[in-house]
Amino acid sequence: MRKHSIVTIGACALAISLAMASMSWAASAPAAPKVPQGWKFTFPQGDAKAGRAVFLEMKCYSCHAIDIPGEKLVARSRGAGPDLNVYSGLPKEYLAESIIKAHTIVAAPGYTVKEGRAAMGEYNHFLTVQQLIDIVAFLRRGTKAEGK
Ligand code: HEC
Repeated sequence: MRKHSIVTIGACALAISLAMASMSWAASAPAAPKVPQGWKFTFPQGDAKAGRAVFLEMKCYSCHAIDIPGEKLVARSRGAGPDLNVYSGLPKEYLAESIIKAHTIVAAPGYTVKEGRAAMGEYNHFLTVQQLIDIVAFLRRGTKAEGK
C-alpha cells in the first residue's frame, strides 16, 4: 500500500511538471525576432592587396579600365564596362552589390547600360565571400593609395 502511494505521488509530480513546462514553452514561443533598432547592412573592411590579386586573377580588367602601378594590363574589350578608377570614393556596400548583382543603372557619369540589360558576367559562383570583401577594399583604396 505504502509503496503504491509513493508511485502515485511520483507520477502526479511528473505530470504537473510536464504540464508546467509545456505552458511556459507556449508562452515564450510566439515572439517574433526583431532586428536591433537602427540596424543597417554594413560591409566589412577588407585587404586591398589581396583584392588586387583577385581582381587580376578574375581578369576584371578585361572589361574595366583601372590603373595599377607596376602592372601593364592588356584589356581585351577595354571600355565594355565603366572605368573603375573613379570608383574609389563609393560606399563599400554599393561596390559589393554591383559585383554580386549587376546594375542596370551605374554610378559612372556618362556611362549608360546598353538597352538596360546588364552585360557584366556573374561571379557569385567563383568568388568567395572573403575575395568579394577584398576586391571591394581594392576598389575603394583607389589605385594611387593601393599597395602602400
Ligand atoms: C565581360 C566584361 C566584364 C567583366 C569581365 C567584368 N565586368 Fe564589371 N561591368 C561590366 C559592365 C558592362 C558593367 C556595367 C553594368 C552592366 O552592364 O552589367 C560593369 C559594372 C561594374 C561596376 C560598377 C557598377 C555600378 O553600379 O556602377 C563595378 C564596380 C564592376 N563592374 C566591377 C567588376 C569586377 C570587380 C569584376 C571582376 C570580378 C568585373 N567587374 C568584371 C563588364 C564587366
